[in-house]
Amino acid sequence: MNTAIRKAVFPVAGLGSRFLPATKAQPKEMLPIVDKPLIQYAVEEAVEAGITEMIFITGRNKRAIEDHFDKAYELEAELEAAGKQKLLDMVREVIPKNVNCMYIRQPQALGLGHAVLCARPIVGDDPFAVLLADDFMQGDPGGPGVLAQMTAAFAREQASLLGVQDVPRENTRQYGIVSTEPFAERLEKVNGIVEKPAPESAPSTLAVVGRYLLTNRIFSCLEKIGKGAGGEIQLTDGIEALMQYETVLAYRYQGRRFDCGSKLGYLQASVEIGLQHAETGAAFAEWLAQRESAACGKSST
Ligand code: G1P
Repeated sequence: MNTAIRKAVFPVAGLGSRFLPATKAQPKEMLPIVDKPLIQYAVEEAVEAGITEMIFITGRNKRAIEDHFDKAYELEAELEAAGKQKLLDMVREVIPKNVNCMYIRQPQALGLGHAVLCARPIVGDDPFAVLLADDFMQGDPGGPGVLAQMTAAFAREQASLLGVQDVPRENTRQYGIVSTEPFAERLEKVNGIVEKPAPESAPSTLAVVGRYLLTNRIFSCLEKIGKGAGGEIQLTDGIEALMQYETVLAYRYQGRRFDCGSKLGYLQASVEIGLQHAETGAAFAEWLAQRESAACGKSST
């Protein structure tokens, strides 16, 4: 099998209803964390992992994503004329020159599994990555990003990999949940997977996060399964079918995840990245500290 992963699929057709009205006329994937849209962070994570072919599964109202990764003639001309070189470079470097972006429209939002299946004509026979941009992932400081960790493990094991983390039992209804047995460092062999189980029936508390490396056999599996949880074609069910033919591994990533599909996770990511940001970090930390001490002062009076 070809063990180098060069293609990534970004399902971006979802409605983003949890962020209305902000997402009434713009894609949720374009919401910024400080100054960069969520989708750009995900693409950068893929680029770091050696991926050069970015496949976006889009829908209505998502054109801003295509524009974001395209050349911006007017903007570039104006920045150039104004001598704003730093900003010009930033705009031009949104995507490296060797990276290709491709777009497939998913006519109806029939589920994550269906979105992945839409990528089949471009992915072909190769193994590929799936990244859900609203799971905002950061590797440990100085270490590789989460997808780069996973592509390294894929090169060793040559098996489909699911990024996983432990979650509180009361939250199992938000995730695909796996049951596993020990396999190797950070890796577990998946024996079962179920989409969004109730806490009392969840087989474990090990949750799949939005990072997958899949062999192309997933496509024939997705084709065969019907509608699952929520009446949608679920990637989770496709993975369960894939397990009948191949080993599927769960990878406990090193780093942190922010659930930017929820308001709370989005706010947490904004604070963390705001604190790490070269331009705003120091001033923001100072402001937060002042705010904290003002609040302490108030509560002690
Ligand atoms: C999707 C998947 C789920 C996975 C989750 C990770 O759910 O269906 O299996 O655990 O992403 O974020 P969604 O969050 O789109 O409802």
